[in-house]
Amino acid sequence: MTLLAIETSCDETSAAVVGNGRVLSNVVSSQVRLHAEYGGVVPELATREHLRNLAPVAQTALREAGIEFQQLDAVAATRGPGLPSALMVGFKAAQGMAYAGRKKFIGIHHHEAHLYSPWASGNPPAADFAAFQPNVSLIVSGGHTMLVHVEAELKHRLLGSTVDDAAGECFDKVGKLIGLAYPGGPEIDRIAENGNPAAFDFPRPMLNEPHDDFSFSGLKTSVRYFLRDHPEVLDDGQRVRDLCSSVQAAIVDVLVTKTVRAATRLRVKCVTASGGVTCNRALRKELAAACQKAGLTLRLAEKNLCTDNAAMIGILAERKLLHGVEETSLDAEIDPGWSLA
Ligand code: KG4
Ligand code: ZN
Repeated sequence: MTLLAIETSCDETSAAVVGNGRVLSNVVSSQVRLHAEYGGVVPELATREHLRNLAPVAQTALREAGIEFQQLDAVAATRGPGLPSALMVGFKAAQGMAYAGRKKFIGIHHHEAHLYSPWASGNPPAADFAAFQPNVSLIVSGGHTMLVHVEAELKHRLLGSTVDDAAGECFDKVGKLIGLAYPGGPEIDRIAENGNPAAFDFPRPMLNEPHDDFSFSGLKTSVRYFLRDHPEVLDDGQRVRDLCSSVQAAIVDVLVTKTVRAATRLRVKCVTASGGVTCNRALRKELAAACQKAGLTLRLAEKNLCTDNAAMIGILAERKLLHGVEETSLDAEIDPGWSLA
């Protein structure tokens, strides 16, 4: 089977061609620089950029894969959750393409697709996936932080999610408090490299509570109060590095501890992680160390597949169609608030 997948749920316009469990192309046009000026994603701008970029991105994906539109068996697109007008651009375009080309069509849940992004690379990815289920999967981005029990292929259960800010949002808001460029996550990662993670003691919210939910707004607030009481820290390069490193350590500690604890409790053998924050080097390192200590196999999404991309949409869409999951109607609407069951 060969299919074209489209993802436009937030600020990346992406198209990918997937065939027989392999990613043949994955083109991502990121708008992050455009939104940086506003300190966050502006939905109207995101929609305008998707409208402008989708056709060339999809054409490039087909060209890079060496596949003609006529050769495709199916078209897939993200149905939700996400920004309504952004989702609509990709979903409606995909329905139009499926109608015009008489292809199968399937709408995909963005977070369910993240569960499969660690398998969007590797050779062959689908075979790898079968070997590592069940697993516990951490999805951690600017909009979401969740732990999911993937019991078997296409079968999952949400264990917990953030009750307030997402971990990426916490990175970005702390970055703003320190005066870093948006998004703050990659900046903090870079600056923290030469800092001392134990220099300042920030709270680890919900670390020891007996559930799989997260909370990050209190951590952000404690950094705000810390900077109100110690504004001089921002004038000292080494103390800024220590501050970034200490905040990063608090976020990473919570994510790693709760993920490994859930995996151990559920007696799975494998942990996976995806979403933009999974690019964070300290998170990748600490998760690897903790999994090794707990005897768990770790499968991290490759860095270019951590952030939003159509390859993961395509990998999941193909598995669904192969397993006989019903196609989505060409009249179906987007589902911006679709929650992961
Ligand atoms: O998955 P993503 O591209 O978009 C969504 O939010 O859906 O994730 C973006 C988030 C931002 O909050 C960004 O600061 C964070 O991922 N991020 C990082 C790093 N790279 C991206 N956070 C910490 N360290 C990084 N290296
Ligand atoms: Zn995402």
